[in-house]
Amino acid sequence: MADEKDALDALGEYALRYVKAGQTIGLGTGRAASAFIRALGASGLNVRGVPTSKASDELGRSVGIPIVTIAEVEKIDIDFDGADEVDPRLNLIKGYGGALVREKIVAASSRRFIVLVGAEKIVAKLGRRGSLPVEVVPFGLTLASKKIKALGLKPRLREHDGNEFVTDNGNLILDCGLKAIGNPARLERELLAIPGVVGTGLFIGMADIVLIAEPSAKITVRKRGR
Ligand code: A5P
Repeated sequence: MADEKDALDALGEYALRYVKAGQTIGLGTGRAASAFIRALGASGLNVRGVPTSKASDELGRSVGIPIVTIAEVEKIDIDFDGADEVDPRLNLIKGYGGALVREKIVAASSRRFIVLVGAEKIVAKLGRRGSLPVEVVPFGLTLASKKIKALGLKPRLREHDGNEFVTDNGNLILDCGLKAIGNPARLERELLAIPGVVGTGLFIGMADIVLIAEPSAKITVRKRGR
């Protein structure tokens, strides 16, 4: 949709105000993060990018951002990424695009984590959009599905073009149907305790700032309370 693209492009431009020359920047995955990557490339700012996926690696290179791997950097100054849900405490669900594990590693390696979303991603409680992505090693798929069902969720293997969707890490994704999550931190602990689960799309207490593209074209800034 042209309007949505324009709104995300404006958000990507807006986010540039947080970037300074010389910084190392986390490059998120998805439409909002891509809008930021394009704006960063066009700005000509002298920065380095640490990608969260093969897609953001390729996009970053294509717009002229020098790319380094996470193993090559001592610190990441700011990570910019999108999200699928944002709750009032700025807890997130991510991973509808399948890059959740690398996204969480880059966010956790960053001094500051800034999230770019459209207003439709704002929810009163995480889980409102009905799905939580969970990355699983292929060998553990049967056990993980069984244990996730026992937690009351409805896991469904993600597919792409009729085949299993395979992450950049060579793993599979279970999109877990659920209702609003009462206690996201407890659900995260329960899921991570399942052998074979590599990571979940729950990002709790990680986002510092959320930039929201409102339908009015205004941009709202929310900061996490300390
Ligand atoms: C990728 O794995 C995701 O976490 C994305 O960051 C998230 O799905 C938001 O993507 P969009 O900006 O495309 O909605």
